Amino acid sequence: MIKVSETRCEYLINPIGIDVKKPRFNWILESNGRDIVQTAYSIQVAVDEQFENLVWNTGRIANGKSVHIKYGGKSLKPSQRYHYRISVEDNMGNHSTWSPGAFFETGLMLSGNWKAQFISPENETNPASSQGWFLKKSVKLKKPLVSARIYATALGIYKVQVNGNRVTDAELTPGWTNYKSRLLYQTYDATELFNEGENILKAHIGPGWYKGDLAGWAGKRAVYGGRNAFSMVLNLEYLDGSIETHITDNSWSSAPSPVLYSEIYNGEEYDARQETPEEKEWKGVDVIDTDMSIVSAQDGPLVTPQEILKPVNVLKDSSGRTILDFGQNMTGWIRFRVSGKEGEKVILKHAEILDSDGNLYTENLRSAKQTITYILKGEGEEEYYPNFTFQGFRYVLLEEFPGNPGVLDSEKFEAVVLHSEMEQTGTFKCSHPLINQLHKNIHWGMKGNFLDIPTDCPQRDERLGWTGDAQVFIGTASYLRNSAPFFTKWLRDLKSEQLPDGGIPHVIPDVLNDAVETDGLLKSSHSATGWADAGVICPWEIYRQYADTRILEENYGVMKAWAGYMERHAAGGTIWDSGFHFGDWVALDAKEGSYFGATPNAFTATVFYANSIDITEKTADLLGKKEDAENYRSLYVRIKKAFQEEFFTPAGRLAVSTQTAHALALYFNLTPESYKKRTVNNLVKLIEDEGNHLNTGFLGTPYLCEALSRNGRLDAAYRLLLQEDYPSWLYQVKQGATTIWEHWDGLKPDGSLWSPDMNSFNHYAYGSVGSWLYSAVAGISADEKAPGYKNIIFRPQPGGGITSASAALSTVYGKVSINWKLEGDTMQVSLEVPVNSTGELYLPGEELSIKLGSGNYEFSHGVPL
Ligand code: BGC
Repeated sequence: MIKVSETRCEYLINPIGIDVKKPRFNWILESNGRDIVQTAYSIQVAVDEQFENLVWNTGRIANGKSVHIKYGGKSLKPSQRYHYRISVEDNMGNHSTWSPGAFFETGLMLSGNWKAQFISPENETNPASSQGWFLKKSVKLKKPLVSARIYATALGIYKVQVNGNRVTDAELTPGWTNYKSRLLYQTYDATELFNEGENILKAHIGPGWYKGDLAGWAGKRAVYGGRNAFSMVLNLEYLDGSIETHITDNSWSSAPSPVLYSEIYNGEEYDARQETPEEKEWKGVDVIDTDMSIVSAQDGPLVTPQEILKPVNVLKDSSGRTILDFGQNMTGWIRFRVSGKEGEKVILKHAEILDSDGNLYTENLRSAKQTITYILKGEGEEEYYPNFTFQGFRYVLLEEFPGNPGVLDSEKFEAVVLHSEMEQTGTFKCSHPLINQLHKNIHWGMKGNFLDIPTDCPQRDERLGWTGDAQVFIGTASYLRNSAPFFTKWLRDLKSEQLPDGGIPHVIPDVLNDAVETDGLLKSSHSATGWADAGVICPWEIYRQYADTRILEENYGVMKAWAGYMERHAAGGTIWDSGFHFGDWVALDAKEGSYFGATPNAFTATVFYANSIDITEKTADLLGKKEDAENYRSLYVRIKKAFQEEFFTPAGRLAVSTQTAHALALYFNLTPESYKKRTVNNLVKLIEDEGNHLNTGFLGTPYLCEALSRNGRLDAAYRLLLQEDYPSWLYQVKQGATTIWEHWDGLKPDGSLWSPDMNSFNHYAYGSVGSWLYSAVAGISADEKAPGYKNIIFRPQPGGGITSASAALSTVYGKVSINWKLEGDTMQVSLEVPVNSTGELYLPGEELSIKLGSGNYEFSHGVPL
């Protein structure tokens, strides 16, 4: 038997608002046999659920592809639901039935002609105001309704209601893009919210990233504009087949909302006494001139509430005020219920840690206030959660709360975790509880920082899309959760902000382009090694993990331009020793008081240059650009040669004696074969010199363990991983961390803290060791030559006293899993290879792999002692 057990369009189950001319289909197969591969497929796409009116009928295609099959039928129409189904044949001669009907629905399929006007309640640009506004309009239904779709966006953040009910649970829409050239609209099915007769459409808008404060230390505000505005299209489809469209225009009215103030970093002030909209004085709106060509459909996941945490502890600070401990450093906000008198206040302050006296520690937030003020209307129990902001926190101080805080009912508070909706794909467990906690912390680092863009941290006055951080973490992220749609979107922003000379900004969206003048540290706002390379590494990683070639096609131009930039700036086109770089950022081998690690820029820049050229060459080759591929190949060979001449002594010693330099030279295959042994031994020696500790920063840390394990020193890799003393991953865990810290010494063994200037406790970068937990400790990795886990590399590498490990991964082909345990001198391994995939199992001590077809397997293997 063969069965199509899951079908997806553009990675999603039954998506609406798809604005891709040729959406792609993926499916997962199920069979009770072994070694099963697909041999043929058929796809039908129809406008009706009965599949009578077909717009695409492939017929039988003798082909094994089951991922990213591009739609190839009649041109798709806007705002139309299409039903699709798939059937397959396998290599055993089995035929599946049709998959259960699934659908995708197109968006407005604009090409730059968004029709609705942008309406603003603010008469003129008003950059200083952080006020929220209501906008409303009544719409009468003339006939029985079949469906209602709302397509909405804003200059600022918006929420939409129909008859007092929100159309979505998504928050912070339309998210953060490069609003100068990309503004996304979202699609909502609002059919159920409409009544016969009159209906009230209401929007609530606030400053958000568009007008609010950004990059607090650089004092940025109103980066994209000084006036908030809202825009939407409502399509009503009546039973008689007619369609009626309503758009925002000057017939709408507006009034100030109870949000007196709302800012991403600072929080919100809300006066519930001003809630009753009927009593408000409604005035008109201004239609503002906006470039309609920048509006396009949402092309990544939305931010939605994902989890609810309850307080695990109710504490008192040194002045006797209540602090709620939610037990987890997280990103989102507090939803609370309160009763009291009109005009009484709730004031909440959010922070990641407490100081040694048990008081809320807010200094590391820098200028971010993270404060919520709610003024009660005084009518029974009131409920509130913020509208246009989010906080990074574990602890919440109730600076004011009506009633007697001594009898405070902590049940009234819940922390709502917000992040981009990305399905969890990876799970990991092993016999070492602290490593399991580390994995959990890494995962929470991801949850806390994948909020529409990949942020460095979610709490201080920063929360920016630092390219370097995203680049070092993307491999781990792609194990933990489906990261393809998220990075598709962010990389489109990156592409839109690449500079004419190929340079790539440090942060995407780029809000630091003129920060160099005010920032003491930045000597340039773009093109730092290991940061800018995100434009190359991120698309490649998505290709490796999800077999997504479209992301390579979309970003090949970015790769080429960045390659050109580096080549022009490198001496003789090979050694890159100029420009401003963060280098091995916050490494412990930095000089006292400096953030810049000891590994010289010429070294790190040339390594990342070589790696990006290597990826660009592989991409060119895959995309059939033979000439480019040849040029990049020969450039790569020249860089590698120059690198080896520059950094290795004739006797084979790596002349830069830092851990990072050794790890990079090994990991990126820049070490001559004959020098590898010496290089890896020297790396081990450098680690031993630190008492078996690492001292690496952002650029070295992600590769340390793999550089060791791949070169015969698994023992040393485990010593690092399992180190519990400062500095190490487990030191943080033992200090009670629930996320990953920005600094190895964020909280020092003597209880003192790193300078509050730069001391985040939720920075995912060092969590990049997560991919080694999956690839080496458990033993699952993607094979770049058959990407997306079409072929799975199983290479479990027991060590460090760990006696068992297991991991499972939902891939585009289906579920991959491994589970191993040591029993005496025997290793028991069970594996799962999905249908239409293959696996290669490398058992410890064996040179040759065992080739596997789909199915479940059990092995018993004598472990070399
Ligand atoms: C951020 C980092 C970022 C770095 C650039 C910091 O302020 O938080 O994570 O990559 O600056 O070096």
